[in-house]
Amino acid sequence: MELEEKQGSRRWEGHLDWRNMAALRGRHDGMLPASFVLVLFAAATATSFSYNPFASAEPVGPDVEGCNKPTLPSGAKPTTCCPPNLEKKEPIDYVIPNYQTLRIRKPAHDYDDLEKYKKALNIMKSLPDDHPHSWTQQSRIHCAYCSNSYHQHGHTDIAMQVHFSWIFLPFHRWLLYFYERILGKLIDDPNFAIPFWNWDAPEGMELPSIFTDKSSPLYNALRNQNHQPPTLVDLNWNVKNVNTSGDTSGDVKANLATMYRQVYEVKKAICFYGRSFRAGDKPYTIKTGSGSIELVPHNIVHSWTGDKTQPNLEDMGAFYAAARDPIFYSHHANVDRMWTIWKSFGREDITDPDYQNASYVFYDENLNLVRVKNSDAFDIKKLGYDYKQLDLPWLKAKPMPRRSKNQRQQRRVKTLDLPFTLKDKIVSTVVKRPRINRNQTEKDEKEESLVFSIQFDRSKHLKFDVLINEEEDYKWANPKYRELAGSFVSVSHGAQTSSDVGATETTFLIGITDLLDQLDVDDEDSIVITLVPQYGDEVIIKDINISFEECKSQ
Ligand code: C2O
Repeated sequence: MELEEKQGSRRWEGHLDWRNMAALRGRHDGMLPASFVLVLFAAATATSFSYNPFASAEPVGPDVEGCNKPTLPSGAKPTTCCPPNLEKKEPIDYVIPNYQTLRIRKPAHDYDDLEKYKKALNIMKSLPDDHPHSWTQQSRIHCAYCSNSYHQHGHTDIAMQVHFSWIFLPFHRWLLYFYERILGKLIDDPNFAIPFWNWDAPEGMELPSIFTDKSSPLYNALRNQNHQPPTLVDLNWNVKNVNTSGDTSGDVKANLATMYRQVYEVKKAICFYGRSFRAGDKPYTIKTGSGSIELVPHNIVHSWTGDKTQPNLEDMGAFYAAARDPIFYSHHANVDRMWTIWKSFGREDITDPDYQNASYVFYDENLNLVRVKNSDAFDIKKLGYDYKQLDLPWLKAKPMPRRSKNQRQQRRVKTLDLPFTLKDKIVSTVVKRPRINRNQTEKDEKEESLVFSIQFDRSKHLKFDVLINEEEDYKWANPKYRELAGSFVSVSHGAQTSSDVGATETTFLIGITDLLDQLDVDDEDSIVITLVPQYGDEVIIKDINISFEECKSQ
């Protein structure tokens, strides 16, 4: 490791003129420094990915040979997302260095490495666009994986998409990992750690001030001007509301309740991470579906931060552009931290080999094109970092019923004819429950899940809320209250063709076991679902049902 570090810093000279790297590498065929041979050897002999023959399909991964022009939402300026292909190198399997010290990621509102971060970013921003470590490349790599730019290895007609499924968390973990390693390399500090935006605690519930200094490389002009500090972030933000005029403003209690609902209360991995995504799966079908953490607060914070005057809330509010804003990396560091926190609750994980072995390709800090897989990212200490331990005030912020069972008025609600187009009117329907009064063991084993099959236009923003057994005259979904079961939120991203735009399908899952207990209705054989459109165009609700299988870990 020692050797590699030294070799690494010598190689760093290549950052100033990375094209020399190619020449340098060429020469290696003749005479190689001993340490360099060691490193390459280790990489080449690393376990190649073993695919489990019993898996029902194959793990998904990008076809890095065939990077395409991205498809962008309308109004977006043309851009490319493909990384430079250094000497047309084949990716090598990544070997995680043996880290001796942990890089500790701290909250952005209490970050003591700001000068280092600024220095590293200034260097990164001064690199030529086609340098694999340049700032431009950092944003492009995210775009390549979510805008129909990369397609799937072995299925080159199908887009690689890192949102809407169980690869969402591991992909973004790797993205941040290399971003951080590259920044550390640029300032020759292997212990450099990026800050996280602590939006889950009152101290962090505003745009952190390190990002708002106009003279700093952490600044970005394309952000919502109404959301500058000290405006509170609203983890349930509605771009525009059909019920009230204007903006909703953040509310600490509502935000904490939202965290409780979206993180602590989601017991099963599929419902927290997202549904399966395997090689050959199309990204926008009812087989896929985002986990609770991706929908809220992840998607919400993207839209809340983005600039309302831009066609698609760029930068943060549109996936192709989001990583152009330095706050993207701190936002995702907190999403990543939520994953580690969720795991610390001791819940069952996903062991499916197609989840474990899904893979991605990145440039590492030594300019190697490397392939990494999900299972190598499960232990952040193995990746050499950790998060500063902080209080989690939302653990005590369980949402409570707005009305007790006795206070609630009985409603007569008809079953909606499906498919139903939800547009700007609030609607209610009755959903039958296949089972009532399960015992605690059954409840712990299987989550009662509300399952929506929906179709919408992914190039636009969309949000609708789901209320359970709420009263007719009550029009406002308040996250503090238990009656709000969850929200579907989509962040704008490109569609392949105009006919494909409106045809994005997905499954939206909400676990409701605890919720029904809390509303004291576990003995009732049906529930009333109220759908509250908050913004965006129409969404077609194709099916609503209750299942005990959907949230399962396998
Ligand atoms: Cu890949 Cu927060 O998006």
